[in-house]
Amino acid sequence: MNILVVDDEEVLQDVLTALIRQEGHHPICCASGQEALTVLAQEEIDLVLLDLMLPDMNGKEVMRRIRLSEPDQVVVIITAYSSIEGAIEAMREGAFHYLPKPFKNEEVRLTIRQGLERRRLTAENRDLKEQLRERQGFDRIIGKSRSIRQVFDLIRRAAPSKSNILIRGESGTGKELVAKSIHGNSKRTDGPFVTVNSGSMPSELLESTLFGHVKGAFTGAVSHKKGLFEVADGGTIFFDEIGNIPPDTQSKLLRVIQEKEFMRLGGLETLRADVRLVAATNADLEARVADGEFREDLYYRLNVITIQLPPLSRRVEDIPLISQHFLRTYSTENEKQPRRLTSEAMDLLMAYHWPGNVRELENVVERAVVLSTGAEIGVDLLPGNIRRPDTTLPPPETLPTRGVSFKEAVSAYERQLIVKALQACGGVQKRAAERLKVKPTTLHEMMKRLRVTVESRAS
Ligand SMILES: Nc1ncnc2c1ncn2[C@@H]1O[C@H](COP(=O)(O)OP(=O)(O)OP(=O)(O)O)[C@@H](O)[C@H]1O
Ligand SMILES: [Mg+2]
Repeated sequence: MNILVVDDEEVLQDVLTALIRQEGHHPICCASGQEALTVLAQEEIDLVLLDLMLPDMNGKEVMRRIRLSEPDQVVVIITAYSSIEGAIEAMREGAFHYLPKPFKNEEVRLTIRQGLERRRLTAENRDLKEQLRERQGFDRIIGKSRSIRQVFDLIRRAAPSKSNILIRGESGTGKELVAKSIHGNSKRTDGPFVTVNSGSMPSELLESTLFGHVKGAFTGAVSHKKGLFEVADGGTIFFDEIGNIPPDTQSKLLRVIQEKEFMRLGGLETLRADVRLVAATNADLEARVADGEFREDLYYRLNVITIQLPPLSRRVEDIPLISQHFLRTYSTENEKQPRRLTSEAMDLLMAYHWPGNVRELENVVERAVVLSTGAEIGVDLLPGNIRRPDTTLPPPETLPTRGVSFKEAVSAYERQLIVKALQACGGVQKRAAERLKVKPTTLHEMMKRLRVTVESRAS
């Protein structure tokens, strides 16, 4: 196993190196935080022994960065007795254990063994989960927020049924991905998955695409042609943006759903349709029904089970995971060494409101990976609209100066800072505290004093 020792004291490096070798592992030493992060990006490291006092960076900052890029990394903190508080805080932020200096050799050995055992268990656990997800076809939907887990749960329960499913969500939230996952989790998984982009096709063309046509059915129909309902036989047919389907076609679609039958254009033969229907929309279907643009009966037929995908800004905690996923994908695709986001860059990604949702995040990460020259992706590689500081917070000079006491004005400003941070972090106080660079307990006290409350977690 590779064990990284991050400490600038040579004596200590020697002691730890010897102990690691005695345990049968391979030590790698670094004397600074920056060096450690570089090694971590390039080598497969199984355990990190990290001193909190480093010449170039605070050890806690190093740990934070490690955990951002490798959430499963096992980090053991080394610290002097006098600064044990720092170690405890680091534990709260996810360090595995701490070793107060001076330590006994036996203590170090034991901690290393336990740390590596933890490493083995998490890896095993992750492998099992991956296998499970692969089997269920969830492998590509990334996320751990409560709202996305509810989506997983709904897919798991609804997919094996025969019911039609309507997927709703803003552009780029993953509707197509979910449709494929439904197919992958259904009993039809070995059958075809066929997508209908009903977008802007004129209704005749759309109908011949869906139902097929016989030779001579219309000008240009020079031969028989199978429609997508035939192609999808035994599988799933996915109607992307169902709200755009013209009224004539809506009636025919309704018939297929109700009777499980259809005819080719110009044909006389009635064909059976054994297909599962999944539809997606970003439109306000209810409004279209009210306006008479969308058939109400079709609406009810489609809407047996609804899966609502939350916008990315409502599941901020998924942003690091999804970013890492795309970092890996695009580093590999572009044949580059693995890339990492600096914590400043990650903070900006988490604060941005993502109107284009996951697709926009994917584009931003792809662009940054392509433009990057080193292992780290910093703020400079993010597009201007994300990099621009939030200007919604009034600059101090616009705050009232007359009729308000100094204390009140300061409180008002503090309050705004806290509310902004909480909003950016989806109401997660721990992250908001990190953003503001205060301890969670301090934030909690300030919130109490300033009467800031978090009504409900956004996810
Ligand atoms: N949770 C997720 N994890 C990983 N990738 C995702 C996730 N959600 C979406 N994506 C990716 O984001 C991109 C957009 O997703 P998708 O095409 O499914 O969105 P959509 O809702 O169909 O968008 P539109 O309404 O614009 O058609 C795809 O590349 C998809 O793989
Ligand atoms: Mg789509």
